[in-house]
Amino acid sequence: MSPRVALREPRVRTAPESPSESPGRHGDPAAGLLDRFGRRATDMRLSLIDKCNLRCTYCMPAEGLPWLNRDQLLTVGEVRRLVRIGVEILGIRELRLTGGEPLVRKDLEEIIAGIRADHPRLPVALTTNAIGLDRRAAALAEAGLTRVNISLDSVHRETFAKLTRRDQLDAVLTGVQAVADAGLTPLKINAVLVRGVNDAQAPDLLAWALGHGFELRFIEQMPLEAEQTWRREATVTAAETRELLSTRYRLSPTDEDRGGAPAERFDVWEKHDAADSPPRGRVGIIASVTEPFCAACTRTRITAEGRVMSCLFSRQEVDLMDLLRSGADDQAVAQRWADAMWAKPAAHGTDRPGFELPGFTRPERSMSAIGG
Ligand code: GTP
Ligand code: 5AD
Ligand code: SF4
Repeated sequence: MSPRVALREPRVRTAPESPSESPGRHGDPAAGLLDRFGRRATDMRLSLIDKCNLRCTYCMPAEGLPWLNRDQLLTVGEVRRLVRIGVEILGIRELRLTGGEPLVRKDLEEIIAGIRADHPRLPVALTTNAIGLDRRAAALAEAGLTRVNISLDSVHRETFAKLTRRDQLDAVLTGVQAVADAGLTPLKINAVLVRGVNDAQAPDLLAWALGHGFELRFIEQMPLEAEQTWRREATVTAAETRELLSTRYRLSPTDEDRGGAPAERFDVWEKHDAADSPPRGRVGIIASVTEPFCAACTRTRITAEGRVMSCLFSRQEVDLMDLLRSGADDQAVAQRWADAMWAKPAAHGTDRPGFELPGFTRPERSMSAIGG
């Protein structure tokens, strides 16, 4: 039986003390993407497409969703322009390309090569389900991709098929291998545990990741599934995840500074390893539900149709596409983007974190339409 912990108010991580730079002033482009709470977004997450070729139960309905038309999506040129405005005017320091499933875009290599030509040193990461990566990993690396996070919840074929509604585990595993062969490291694996489906397999997944030298992160399930069935009680919490892993492993928190990173990281030993033996690797736990990291958030999101979401749970979206397609200059785009971020909510789309609290309302979009 899965271990359970009593529900309690989420423990909120506080912002890192004394930011090294002064927060600056909103309205001054040099201030970057500052918000009312003194956070500065330097991590740009850009969704390239809303479509996906899997149907993970915690994200999409079996029949899919009404997809955007191709002409509603940001073009290669528009993506490059937004990244240039982000980096050159607004202080963006790293970029993550997301979906839906970004590999569904046939021009992904062209997009990455263009961004790389504009910004030789910008870290450019990809969040993907890895289907099709066997054929594209080498070209993506060649285009200038820096690293890849792959979503994989089970290495057991039947469980994978049940969770994703597609019998595609082999395609994912060959994609994972291709990323490793292309030298796109560190390779991170993201897993969502679903009670009664893959939670008991958490140690198997960790054994697989450690065996290949990948960094596995378990993510608490958030209310971002299209079918709106999320219940706090159903979330496999970080505490439960540690208990599930403890059947086979010992974990010890690393003493690194997390900054704005969502994962708490642990060194991992097998239970019977000698006390002085080196760790076998690391595992991360992303506790968005029970230990929100909103106070340290450094993210700004752009949807596939060019709208700013200041928070994963924003219900207000600010359109940049109309500016891009109506001849507005870069400063006008930057200003609207900065204004959108200034209005970023304190936490979980509202004034305090807690998906089960009365102030929380879900965003209209599911995770697939926002990007990870
Ligand atoms: P790296 O550690 O730099 O590789 O990036 P990352 O951890 O941001 O990577 P990734 O995009 O793989 O995000 C991992 C998971 O963290 C996502 O799938 C989300 O579940 C969660 N997450 C990411 N960003 C946010 C956020 O802004 N808010 C919340 N609540 N959860 C987030
Ligand atoms: N809660 C938490 N993480 C989610 N993801 C998708 N839906 C959810 C959810 N409801 C994760 C996927 C993938 C990333 C894009 O987002 O596992 O790693
Ligand atoms: Fe940032 Fe919003 Fe995610 Fe909190 S919920 S970490 S504020 S994006």
